[in-house]
Amino acid sequence: MKGLLIAGAGGHGKVVAEAALATGRWERIAFVDDRHAQLSDVLGHPVLGGIDDASRFRAEYADAVVAIGNARVRLHVMDRLKSEGFGLPLVIHPSAWVSPSAVLGDGTVVFAMAAVNACAVIGRGGIVNTGATVDHDCRLGDGVHVCPGAHVAGDVVLGDAVWVGIGASVVNGLHVGADSIIGAGAAVVSNVEDGVTVAGVPAKVIKGHVWDG
Ligand SMILES: CC(C)(COP(=O)(O)OP(=O)(O)OC[C@H]1O[C@@H](n2cnc3c(N)ncnc32)[C@H](O)[C@@H]1OP(=O)(O)O)[C@@H](O)C(=O)NCCC(=O)NCCS
Repeated sequence: MKGLLIAGAGGHGKVVAEAALATGRWERIAFVDDRHAQLSDVLGHPVLGGIDDASRFRAEYADAVVAIGNARVRLHVMDRLKSEGFGLPLVIHPSAWVSPSAVLGDGTVVFAMAAVNACAVIGRGGIVNTGATVDHDCRLGDGVHVCPGAHVAGDVVLGDAVWVGIGASVVNGLHVGADSIIGAGAAVVSNVEDGVTVAGVPAKVIKGHVWDG
């Protein structure tokens, strides 16, 4: 069995490690994290070095998962690790449901009690967090994070790097533009353009485009 290297030893990295162990697919786990000087181990797994050092450990750890919250950074580090020869596996907790007709991109993680239903498509580096659901025929771009307990109804399209906050809901058939943030507990009942933050019930724009500063 291979080893799994997790890039990012924060809270999300811990959850990735425990989900990966629960699958029984990896016999050993280690982290790389730029705070390695202050972190010798996390959950009993060693922190071997910084993220730039990852390739040194590829012989023992052939697979890698990037556990970095910022989606654009996560995707960038994934591309680098892939070019260095790492496999970018799916990590699906055994208590999650992933439909056999769903398609998940490299490096996507699906945590405990989450569900991904029929014909959903999720891009690279996705996170379907604890107890979240992505329903039938959804199309999620790369780097999308559906936070714990958030629900995305059927036929929804989420652009790259969308962040659906904890406990939020997105009504069926809507489109949420790339890089947008949906606040905790929001009910999204109309389309959301690119790069804005929406919150509330019903959700309204509370911050403009990220590129406006
Ligand atoms: C939406 C969010 C990203 C906004 O964060 P922010 O840009 O720092 O915004 P601020 O905290 O400056 O809040 C701006 C205004 O929006 C309101 N607001 C913020 N989040 C809100 C939410 N989820 N629902 C309703 N109103 C919200 C604030 O009360 C504030 O209102 P005011 O101007 O009347 O005082 C953040 O509040 C949020 O909900 N994050 C989700 C966190 C999460 O899901 N974590 C899970 C990690 S796995």
